[in-house]
Amino acid sequence: MSFLESQWLLIIHVLAATVWTGGHLVLATVILPTVLRDRSVSRLLAFESAYERIGMPALLLQVVTGVALAYRLIPDVSAWFDWSNPIARAIIAKLTLLLLTVVFALDARFRVIPGLTERGLVDMAWHIVPVTVLSVLFVVVGVSFRGGGLGAF
Ligand code: HEM
Repeated sequence: MSFLESQWLLIIHVLAATVWTGGHLVLATVILPTVLRDRSVSRLLAFESAYERIGMPALLLQVVTGVALAYRLIPDVSAWFDWSNPIARAIIAKLTLLLLTVVFALDARFRVIPGLTERGLVDMAWHIVPVTVLSVLFVVVGVSFRGGGLGAF
């Protein structure tokens, strides 16, 4: 089996990670400060609507390939929740990060963004910054799999 045949799931997973985490780092560190400084709702919405087109498919790919990769590491799904196994702990951490990301994203999409005004920009920042931190933690936990998962707590 060639390298591409055996590693394509991981390649897609890491490529999508560059889009998700990279996009959020650009949003939080470059776009957001200028949006807050100039109180520019339109600049934030312009970035959001452009990024959404590639960011949402990337997150979806992340979930699909991530679950498949987890299945490859631990084929018995009930064993994913065995806290004594460091690989399972990393999978639980990934799923928890996913749950938190989805809660923040849904709240932003359906409560904060519709009818967003200058006064809502700080509320929006309180969504962007945590989701960016979560996106970096996804990478940290992801890389931990190589070392055998999350160490003993
Ligand atoms: C935005 C979300 C995510 C990001 C940014 C992300 C990022 C990463 C990164 C950078 C790696 C390291 C690859 C390596 O060291 O070779 C990785 C590995 C992994 N991720 Fe994710 N991930 C995300 C979501 C998920 C989800 C939802 C799951 C599902 C449980 C998941 C499961 C895994 C698994 C099992 C591995 C290890 C693959 C292996 O080495 O065989 N990831 N992830």
